[in-house]
Amino acid sequence: MGAGGNGAGAARVAVVTSGPGAAQDADLPLIVAGLRDAGLAAEAVHWDAEHVRWDRFDLALIRSTWDYAGRLEEFLAWADATARVTRLCNPAPVVRWNSDKRYLLDLAARGVPVVPTRFVEPGGPWAEEDLGAGRPVVVKPSVSAGARDTARYEPGQLADAARHVRMLREQGRTAMVQPYLRLVAEGERALVFLGGTFSHAIRKGPLLTEAGVVDNARVAHPGAAPYRPSEAELAVARAAVAAVPGPEGPLFARVDLALDEGREPVVMELELIEPNLFLGMNPRGLDRLVAAVAGAGEAVAGGATA
Ligand SMILES: Nc1ncnc2c1ncn2[C@@H]1O[C@H](COP(=O)(O)OP(=O)(O)O)[C@@H](O)[C@H]1O
Ligand SMILES: [Mg+2]
Repeated sequence: MGAGGNGAGAARVAVVTSGPGAAQDADLPLIVAGLRDAGLAAEAVHWDAEHVRWDRFDLALIRSTWDYAGRLEEFLAWADATARVTRLCNPAPVVRWNSDKRYLLDLAARGVPVVPTRFVEPGGPWAEEDLGAGRPVVVKPSVSAGARDTARYEPGQLADAARHVRMLREQGRTAMVQPYLRLVAEGERALVFLGGTFSHAIRKGPLLTEAGVVDNARVAHPGAAPYRPSEAELAVARAAVAAVPGPEGPLFARVDLALDEGREPVVMELELIEPNLFLGMNPRGLDRLVAAVAGAGEAVAGGATA
């Protein structure tokens, strides 16, 4: 254990996790140890644990709250309440904005290339023909993580795709319909930004390997391996991060890109809540995150005791 554990004045950091996160998050122990080595008093805390005094912490770093999508209102209420008594990273309004993939519309409006997406609201108009004939599509909910309730359909499976949209609507959820980007077969890219600058990237294999199948037990990042992004990919990812609303840039961000038919990178997902950061493959990324947290946490701790 590092020196910071109980040093007076050391910034106190909650690294926020969950039941599923604590069991599976490979970044979590690295981050806690890295922060302690840097002299901060860091501990892992479950977001939904009872009787946590969040005001004990100078900073709460959301890390692996991997059960939030099924408990969204509870989670957003926690984020708002926590942000009132400590510094929450990323900030609560950013968490709220990023919890629903309708943020893709905001990115598109700011000129960021995104996967072309039709959002089907639970109460809104909708016809099976809207799926578009003759092309493979992906159907997924606008609030989700880990490819839950997500599937792709071949042109011969449009009735199944329509049933999937109907099911989401009947559950009161907004459905998304996108073209299936076949070039994910060459890998999706995930570009990690820490403290506002690009840190590292990975490439991973496609998830929706079988058409017409919803599988909620998928491996989220099959075959993840270090990757050097192209200039075009970096430019799109930077534009996505720059489009995040709010006065300050996100402390951490992951931009997931795929290539469209013309091999141009498009944003599939911008992860600002609890992304895997692949720090085990990227020790310098861990150093960057620790430096960013230390800077933010010490600013708060210093301010509080001055
Ligand atoms: N339009 C698409 N084309 C190809 N693959 C997709 C598409 N949308 C989703 N996928 C696959 O499903 C996975 C999960 O979808 P994603 O949009 O990242 O949502 P989440 O990770 O929040 O569940 C992606 O990593 C990708 O493998
Ligand atoms: Mg994803």
